[in-house]
Amino acid sequence: MPKSKETLDFKIRNVRIDDVKEVYKLLTANKPYVGLNSRYTYFLLARDFYDTCLVALVGDRIIAFSSGYISPNRPNTFFSWEVVVHKDYRGKGLQKLLLLQQLEMTGAEYLEGTVNPSNEASRKNFLKIAKILSAKYQEKILFSKEDFESDGHEEEILYKIGPIHTFQATNSYISKA
Ligand SMILES: CC(C)(COP(=O)(O)OP(=O)(O)OC[C@H]1O[C@@H](n2cnc3c(N)ncnc32)[C@H](O)[C@@H]1OP(=O)(O)O)[C@@H](O)C(=O)NCCC(=O)NCCS
Repeated sequence: MPKSKETLDFKIRNVRIDDVKEVYKLLTANKPYVGLNSRYTYFLLARDFYDTCLVALVGDRIIAFSSGYISPNRPNTFFSWEVVVHKDYRGKGLQKLLLLQQLEMTGAEYLEGTVNPSNEASRKNFLKIAKILSAKYQEKILFSKEDFESDGHEEEILYKIGPIHTFQATNSYISKA
């Protein structure tokens, strides 16, 4: 189903091991913004971090995946690792909604995530989430090009949002397209 003015009829649930096949296809279709890792990594995520990782489905089809975890060193912080939305379902607020849900689920006080400088959509979304939550944000280079041994990987800019005091993870972001 392509983008339309209709409200998106979807559901969100925690990722399962048997989702990995489909999630991997979604990720593969969206390189280089999502730095595809081994299937094994995603199996581990689904086994050990399913409580902080989400998929969105239309019918039985996975249309989005959002991974992340509570940092063992910063238990008040949810780190968003990868978010991918199928190209036919973009611009409907799904990335923001998934991140807000993950924040609400974890009760985190801070949201962290890295964005490549060329990924304007993600950057915009992190700033918008800070605004929605009336929270401060900071940005700084977390991993430089040199850290990636100048192999063509862009730097990873860390966005840190918080402290977060309120949640407004509602479907109102979904039907605006
Ligand atoms: C980045 C991504 C997850 C966004 O998902 P999404 O569900 O479409 O995001 P949302 O609908 O919540 O918001 C998109 C916002 O970015 C804007 N946007 C989309 N493409 C844009 C672009 N190329 N330049 C600037 N803004 C853009 C939209 O207008 C929207 O802004 P708005 O809320 O002010 O209207 C999706 O585009 C994607 O999967 N991209 C490939 C993978 C990726 O980059 N993942 C993130 C890094 S891990």
